[in-house]
Amino acid sequence: MKVVTEIGEYRKLRKGMPSPVGFVPTMGYLHQGHLALVQQARAENKTVVVSIFVNPTQFGPKDDLAAYPRDPERDLALLEKEGTDIVFMPSAEEMYPEGFSSWVEVDKVTDRLEGAFRPGHFRGVATIVAKLFNSVQPHRAYFGQKDAQQLIVIKKMVSDLNMDLEVVAVPTVRDPDGLAMSSRNTYLDPEERKAALVLWNALSLAQELWSKGERNAERLRQEMSALIQKEPRAKIDYVSVADPDSLEELSQIEGTALVSMAVRIGKTRLIDNITLG
Ligand code: PAF
Repeated sequence: MKVVTEIGEYRKLRKGMPSPVGFVPTMGYLHQGHLALVQQARAENKTVVVSIFVNPTQFGPKDDLAAYPRDPERDLALLEKEGTDIVFMPSAEEMYPEGFSSWVEVDKVTDRLEGAFRPGHFRGVATIVAKLFNSVQPHRAYFGQKDAQQLIVIKKMVSDLNMDLEVVAVPTVRDPDGLAMSSRNTYLDPEERKAALVLWNALSLAQELWSKGERNAERLRQEMSALIQKEPRAKIDYVSVADPDSLEELSQIEGTALVSMAVRIGKTRLIDNITLG
């Protein structure tokens, strides 16, 4: 496994890389969810490239960029075990040199849900992912279904800007009790960790009601919200039952629906989702 920090150095290596090249972009502090992406990339490609870059432009003024968890040594050991070929670990100056002034904006699907609560977040994500795609030049790129809106935004960017690669969605990896794996889970104290299960419980309730024939989206939103509100440590940012392509809120579920939520447990903001249908 080679660790590369500069785009120029990577480009030289890229010329001799066996195709296809599978790419997993990450912000590090890897958990089983990330490793599932790497494993799928390993199974489907001749070369596997993973990037580790904590992207400053996707953090808002209230998000604590400096406090974002980091452990590069552990990350590298885990990636080596998974058979990663190249780790791309650029500095902030490498990705955003002085005078940087070009941005990628994806309209409409970024207005809602995470986009509404985190202004500028998806501009930062789309820009860094476009830069990483241009630098790494992969045939396939792997993203977790847990960040459902991010996945939709990236697919839209790839299609709208005619980027020549396939975006692969990988199912959410959960702890045995159902909590979706996230680097942010490390912020939870033991009581908050228990309280955080309310996200999975609410999604499971939606799944159960839907399985029994409930198709009224507002009823699902209400039932999930009522369940979450019973947990004193939980504060809802949003509970959504939306069209999985446009992300517009549904009144009636006719085909598939993306059920998603953002809930703050103490100071930690968690997101999760499932697809119905
Ligand atoms: O999902 C993430 O970890 C980040 O948003 C990504 C895609 C690596 C871009 O910084």
